[in-house]
Amino acid sequence: MKRVITYGSFDLFHEGHYNLLMRAKALGDYLIVGVTTEQYDESRGKLNIVDSLDKRIENVRNSGFADEVIVEDHPGQKVEDVQKYGVDIFTVGSDWQGAFEYLEPYCQVVYLERTKNISSTQMRERGHNIIRIGVIGSGRIAVRFVPEAKYVSGVLVNSVFNPHLASAQLFARQFELDMATDVLDDFWDEVDAVYIASPHETHYDYAKAALEQGKHVLCEKPLAFSQREAEELFAIARQRGKVLLEAIKTAYCPGFVQMIGIAKTGTIGRICDVEACFTRLTPSDLRERTDLKYGGAFTEFGSHTLLPIIKIMGADYKDVRFDSILDENGIDLYTKASFRYENGMAMSKSGVGVKSEGQLLISGTKGYILAESPWWLTQYFEVRYEDPNKRDRYFSKFLGQGLRYEISDFAYMIHGHQGRSYKFTAEDSIAIAGVMEKFLQKRTGGRNEDLGA
Ligand code: CTP
Repeated sequence: MKRVITYGSFDLFHEGHYNLLMRAKALGDYLIVGVTTEQYDESRGKLNIVDSLDKRIENVRNSGFADEVIVEDHPGQKVEDVQKYGVDIFTVGSDWQGAFEYLEPYCQVVYLERTKNISSTQMRERGHNIIRIGVIGSGRIAVRFVPEAKYVSGVLVNSVFNPHLASAQLFARQFELDMATDVLDDFWDEVDAVYIASPHETHYDYAKAALEQGKHVLCEKPLAFSQREAEELFAIARQRGKVLLEAIKTAYCPGFVQMIGIAKTGTIGRICDVEACFTRLTPSDLRERTDLKYGGAFTEFGSHTLLPIIKIMGADYKDVRFDSILDENGIDLYTKASFRYENGMAMSKSGVGVKSEGQLLISGTKGYILAESPWWLTQYFEVRYEDPNKRDRYFSKFLGQGLRYEISDFAYMIHGHQGRSYKFTAEDSIAIAGVMEKFLQKRTGGRNEDLGA
């Protein structure tokens, strides 16, 4: 009996898939089909798979050609499978020509001609109108966004707004965008969604204006500097049926999501303490060091460090206290925010003028999770216990600059697949805005004692 194997995502099952499976089956007597998991696809840069794994498996089964369906979830699995299943022929479409010679020591490799003019990518884009995204602000953060958006199918960054027209035009030329403008009304006509990457203090106003225009909003951190403003923005988004997401990229990256999941399984017992540190020495002439109202370590990097604290310990803290080392101009070079919870504590350390070890430490009654710098681009973390010989190590992919993960979730939500983000919720955003507000109150003269939650 000749055994044949083939693999694919088989998303939005189409004629090309059917033809491929039919011809694969005809190569032998028994056809095994490997269907990829979302996580595996994500790790190889294939974002925005629409159908669930169950549905994709069902569609492969319904084709009637597969004698056995298996799941592919890691690199290197094909080498294992062809040996394990005693495979005679490995086959895939001709788009993979040359990619699988490494299987030749184990079996015959056959490339079948690909069906022309159809692909899941094409169908994803046709099935759901492409989301036209406009960028508000064209500074340091915005330049990382456009190249990352290219990895997410179904979105197109087409325009940029900046009150300084020359900056917008430069940005549009650099990224070959259709439109650069300093007139908001012209901008709204061109876009379905916006990515806000303007100076911090303008986030709230732009987010509000965009939502009121019926646009979906992905807003750089911090979304707002007060709890009330954040609540108001989410209320408008709800009323209008629009997606509002705060762009804290770490929150959406696979390694961080896994780490939060593991922290919540009870592996390290009851969690008692979260310590998160992020520092980046910033030249003294940059906005972070000169903007007396909104610059400084905590407003700049506090969102990073508050993220794991709020995700793990929650928003229901009893008290938060801030301690800062100030620059001569009064902005904080380094800030420690310490939280007291009913049954736990947390510490955020952020710096623009003091360097420290950037690590994330989650301590529990049975062990701890340690993610070393750069934990905010989570690729690796360890779970450790009293017994130093016992260590669980977790590795994850973090592709490119990592913004593609938040963009992918944003698009996924706009397409209505997921009503709300569980990775970073409205409640999480509102809680972080509340902490920012307390910090700014203290900076403008409030006392620590007044800052109980
Ligand atoms: N395939 C094919 N003809 C097509 C599309 C896909 O023969 N028009 C084959 C691929 O070569 C592969 C299998 O079908 O062997 C599964 O492909 P998959 O990557 O799931 O489908 P695509 O439509 O290529 O998906 P995407 O656009 O997401 O890359």
